[in-house]
Amino acid sequence: MMTLDEARARDAADPLRGFRERFALPEGVIYLDGNSLGPLPRAAAAAAEDCVGRQWGERLIRGWNEGWIDAPARIGGKIARLIGAGADEVIVADSTTVNLFKAIVAALRLDPARRTVVSELGNFPTDLHIAQGAVGCVEGARLKAVPRDRLADALDGDTAVLVLTHVHYKTAERFDMAAWTQRAHAAGALVLWDLSHSAGAVPVDLGAAGADLAVGCGYKYLNGGPGAPAYLHVARRWQAALGNPLSGWMGHAAPFAMEDRYRPAPGMARWLAGTPPVLGMAALEAGVDLMLEADMAAVAAKSAALFDAMAAIGDALGLECVSPRDPAARGSHISFRHREAHQLCQALIAEGVIGDFRDPDILRLGLTPLYLGFADVVRAGDILAAILREGRHRDPRFAVRRAVT
Ligand SMILES: Cc1ncc(COP(=O)(O)O)c(C=O)c1O
Repeated sequence: MMTLDEARARDAADPLRGFRERFALPEGVIYLDGNSLGPLPRAAAAAAEDCVGRQWGERLIRGWNEGWIDAPARIGGKIARLIGAGADEVIVADSTTVNLFKAIVAALRLDPARRTVVSELGNFPTDLHIAQGAVGCVEGARLKAVPRDRLADALDGDTAVLVLTHVHYKTAERFDMAAWTQRAHAAGALVLWDLSHSAGAVPVDLGAAGADLAVGCGYKYLNGGPGAPAYLHVARRWQAALGNPLSGWMGHAAPFAMEDRYRPAPGMARWLAGTPPVLGMAALEAGVDLMLEADMAAVAAKSAALFDAMAAIGDALGLECVSPRDPAARGSHISFRHREAHQLCQALIAEGVIGDFRDPDILRLGLTPLYLGFADVVRAGDILAAILREGRHRDPRFAVRRAVT
């Protein structure tokens, strides 16, 4: 196990150490939840203030022609660089949930001979819930959700789209994107990747994998703020053929021509529905810009090393690690299964170590290299060890479940 001195030496030699001060992290907190809600980049606070005070306050409606209307495509083009896509293949819009709906319905409408959406049981709930809603909107369509080990068998000539989350929200298991894209294509289906736990966390190359569609959220590793707008990727080769079922005026070829009849915009603009959330996008853009400054190879290498440090602590404490040990097979968080995971998580939070709990028994700790150091991991491990040793998590107040766990 790493000592605090060794950890400090690793931090001093860390090529990413300069990023920590770019975040407004509160004193006394070790933040292991950047995989759920990224912390506040100082630049995002400034961008939001400028957006409210100067742009909204002074420029008023003139702001639309001073950067607001272009923001979905502009920020999409930046996110594209984090996920191996072309700048013209990504747009910022809506939430991940809504983008999943748009993409699944579009995929189902592409080929009426294919009626099945295939996904994984245990996928993030919204992916399955929205797929259930999407198939309900397309005649004859159905969802086939199967365990991971039966996914390959579930693909057949009836599959319209395979919907997978690249990095699993609980275990951090990572699908081999190229291999699964190829499997879907071999069955004649499209593949739709949910990159919510991938973008900014692990290297992603949608282009090299030949992926068709992807979605992801802005508030985790992209540090775009609570409820930040999400993004959608459509491979260039599908952009003319796929249509947005939420055909709103912002996706029209000429929104301000005020035509009665919907005509989809060319390219990614058709995936917009209504007016873009300008305030949210201002913060998101700052978060994405910051992420783009980091070398993804350095991020991945440090994530792997932070994982090893935390896994060694877990091993020493006898905790069951459910995340893959192979860095290429996982994302950037570590999860431990524990009967009292909820209480442990609450006890940690009470001592300034913020992670999260996923029902029924997962303690999930995000290992985000831009602002987390090795000394943080060692200190968090010491606190966790003390809680377990002294049974502090058994305090009845830690059993209370709040609305958001
Ligand atoms: C894989 C995945 N998809 C989607 C979401 C959330 O989607 P939305 O932002 O629409 O609530 C999450 C949130 O944690 C997630 O982990």
